[in-house]
Amino acid sequence: MKYLSFYEERGIEIFVAKDQYVWDRAGEKYLDMHTGHGVAFLGHRNRKVVEALKAQLEEVISATPSFKVRAREEAVAALEKVMPKGHSFVTFLNSGSEGVELALKVARRATGRKKLVSFLGSFHGRSMGALSVTGNQSYRRPFEPLVPGVEFLPYNSLESIKAIDQETAGVILEPVQGEGGVVPAKAEFFKAVAERSREVGALLIVDEVQAGFGRTGSIWASQHYGVEPDVLVAGKAIGGGFPVSVVSMREEVGSRLEKGDHGSTYGGNPLACAAVRAAVEVLLEENVAERARYMGAVMREMLSPLGEHRLVREVRGMGLMIGVELRVAPAGVIRCLQSRRVLSLKAGSTTVRFLPPYMITREDAEWGVGALAKCLDEELSSRAPR
Ligand SMILES: Cc1ncc(COP(=O)(O)O)c(C=O)c1O
Repeated sequence: MKYLSFYEERGIEIFVAKDQYVWDRAGEKYLDMHTGHGVAFLGHRNRKVVEALKAQLEEVISATPSFKVRAREEAVAALEKVMPKGHSFVTFLNSGSEGVELALKVARRATGRKKLVSFLGSFHGRSMGALSVTGNQSYRRPFEPLVPGVEFLPYNSLESIKAIDQETAGVILEPVQGEGGVVPAKAEFFKAVAERSREVGALLIVDEVQAGFGRTGSIWASQHYGVEPDVLVAGKAIGGGFPVSVVSMREEVGSRLEKGDHGSTYGGNPLACAAVRAAVEVLLEENVAERARYMGAVMREMLSPLGEHRLVREVRGMGLMIGVELRVAPAGVIRCLQSRRVLSLKAGSTTVRFLPPYMITREDAEWGVGALAKCLDEELSSRAPR
């Protein structure tokens, strides 16, 4: 039987992984700035997360939310320390897409309205609901018709937000578009979207699946903007590598939901909850967000001379969510980086994306940036007329 993979084959086997590195079967060491699309932000096999999972394996590994379990209660108590202050409800699902699905349902349920607003260039997941609000036609088109009632507005455009109106149930927004090319929201845009949503009574759903949990240099990227969402969706890093997502919301939103409005067999699984609890402890005890802010600044400073390279259009990002936009498709550069033992990934159609773990060192950053400089030169010379 063949494994049905929907992803490009990268041509290496990850045999062992620890912290910011992975090793292939031949023992070659790679600097991992791909981190499974940003998941391993706390490092591979973070010690605290592994210990929590091992302990939980000896206790209880399956129990639905109809039954109380210590792991879930501890995860909720831990999350209370980090979720936005005004949020009094939190729940667990299994992936970012599932979190987005719930957020969209919450918007319709809590407002009684139907219209959803999203932004061009966004990515919110591959399930039918999440895909319906993903602002990239090439992902959506083969699966249409999708959920009706979605309007897409240009990202970072102030004029367009008038389309958020009294009929809008929810507005979903990434503080930094990840998949779309590592594009941070402009402060005035994000604030205006939040204000407009509040004015017309639409829920502001902030998708922090990729940008959240410390990666951009604050626990939530929306904090950089002073915006508190009505509904927040987190995933990827929040399980320290374990598949889990978290959705939190304000009291007045959560209190409008009823038993049976949603459900998921594995949502709130004790292993996932143990991982989240440990991940939150690491986030706080290790000052992960601060470290990401510092190392992000270090790395972007190292990258900035490459902004002058003939193949580079722009270096941008926030914290350890970094994009180098090229004037050409990035596949060749990403392949070259891998041959130099540096793992990265694509964003949008022209951007090389770096999503390293928070513990990368200055030496790691030098390794990555040095490799990129060489790969850009190689790419340029491969394109020069002979
Ligand atoms: C911003 C954002 N939202 C949602 C998702 C979907 O998450 P998942 O792949 O865990 O379903 C992703 C995945 O890349 C993402 O980057």
